[in-house]
Amino acid sequence: MSILTHSPAWRALAAHSASVAGARLTHLFAADDQRAERFSCAFGQLHLDYSRQLVTQETMQLLFALARQADLSGWIRRMYAGEPINNTEGRAALHVALRTDQVAFPAGGDVMPEVRATRERMRAMVEKLRAGLLRGATGKPLANVVNLGIGGSDLGPRMATRALRACRKGGVRVFYVANADPADLEGALDGLDPQATLFIVTSKTFTTVETLDNARRARAWLEHSLGAGAALARHFLAVTASEARAREFGVEAECIFPMWDWVGGRFSLWSAVALPLAMAIGMDEFDELLEGARDMDAHFHTMPLERNLPALLGLLGVWNINFLGAETHAVIPYCEDLRELPAYLQQLEMESNGKRVDRDGHEIDYDTAPILWGASGTSSQHSFHQLLHQGTHLAPVDFIVAADGAGDGQARDLLLASALAQGAALMSGAPAEDPHRRIPGNRPLNTVLMERLSAESLGQLIALYEHKVFVQGVIWNINSFDQWGVELGKRLAAELLPALREGKMPAQTDGATRALIERIRRLRRRR
Ligand code: F6P
Repeated sequence: MSILTHSPAWRALAAHSASVAGARLTHLFAADDQRAERFSCAFGQLHLDYSRQLVTQETMQLLFALARQADLSGWIRRMYAGEPINNTEGRAALHVALRTDQVAFPAGGDVMPEVRATRERMRAMVEKLRAGLLRGATGKPLANVVNLGIGGSDLGPRMATRALRACRKGGVRVFYVANADPADLEGALDGLDPQATLFIVTSKTFTTVETLDNARRARAWLEHSLGAGAALARHFLAVTASEARAREFGVEAECIFPMWDWVGGRFSLWSAVALPLAMAIGMDEFDELLEGARDMDAHFHTMPLERNLPALLGLLGVWNINFLGAETHAVIPYCEDLRELPAYLQQLEMESNGKRVDRDGHEIDYDTAPILWGASGTSSQHSFHQLLHQGTHLAPVDFIVAADGAGDGQARDLLLASALAQGAALMSGAPAEDPHRRIPGNRPLNTVLMERLSAESLGQLIALYEHKVFVQGVIWNINSFDQWGVELGKRLAAELLPALREGKMPAQTDGATRALIERIRRLRRRR
């Protein structure tokens, strides 16, 4: 048994969970007409209603005791102080520096001069492009922006560009290409004018094969219509922590924007990684996004646990996963412009907290990150909600709902009514004689209600989830800021390339992989 599962706070929660096991949400509401107010918390543009979680006030007190036992406030302080909390890589995790308005941060290791200088360079580049003054090899203004990046170098700006669709001004068109499958790049380039197309190669390491392959194919596409030559460099920007590799690829020094080892890819939306986003919406809107996140940072840093949104969200997740046995977590935005949010959160939560050893390398005996999944409502109602209502899995849900927004109010009402109806059905269910028609209800859920989707509220929402991930990492005593698990697949892919291309099978190749490679090579020979 690990220290954590043996600890007083954990054992108290385990004992308490038995008493909550038979609880029904409908009874909890019947017994307390203030439950909706009591189990909700608001900050900024966000209101978190967790009254439909299977918790009582005692549960919450025990969860707060768990957070205190884990020294959550100490860990928050250490993160904000720039201590190397990413212990396996010996690095700080300073994404909050990217949105702070403090002149010097963190105390004793100021990164603000480079953050400010980069933001100013971003602003100049974005304004030049949006004014039509950034020109390609033939002198034509660059108006199509194609981001080439994957994981954290793609998902954040991709999600936010779609989320802030309504904030887009000007004629800049932004596309995102991530996949190693050439179909991704081909699909994006279809119909684009090479003379007016700018590529941003976004890669912290500048070694990620998918991104480099796409960058090489992008250059070939430009060469095909514009010819080779130095002027092609005008079609490339890079965002990276490895200036030397970007230079080697052919990007001009003044077109390279820095990243830093103290920002993880999945926490980098607030850096120059957001160049394509800022090009779509303008720097003023981007500043609003940062401001929203900054508000949430201050809230997280200072608010007591009982009113601290990221702490609440994180602790409720711990409750569902570790004490009620939930293995998955669904995120369902009732907001089509947030449709990329589940994919973004998948990396944020599962790459950060999909860990099986604690900070000291000891195997753990409790679950960590849930399998996060989801899609936008109402479409999701017609695909997977059946399982939520009548399936055998306990799948807690976060509904994300915007009360107001631009456009057709009647249509918004239908969307809101649908979201509210799903919450009501999940909680209350419906009795029926026929077991096929019976809906058991009692499914735990949160509702995150936003006033409206804006750059500011999006900044608050994303920072909320970032800090939630940190809270859970602290409780589980794992390092949320490394991702060693993805390295093995990358290395094996590099080793298997010669096997596919030339039949040079690495000696240690397993039987299944070997057979598949041989079959693929036979199939190709038949062409
Ligand atoms: O998937 C692994 C990973 O290292 C992510 O953490 C990262 O966001 C992604 O690859 C892309 O890395 P890079 O920005 O270095 O190309």
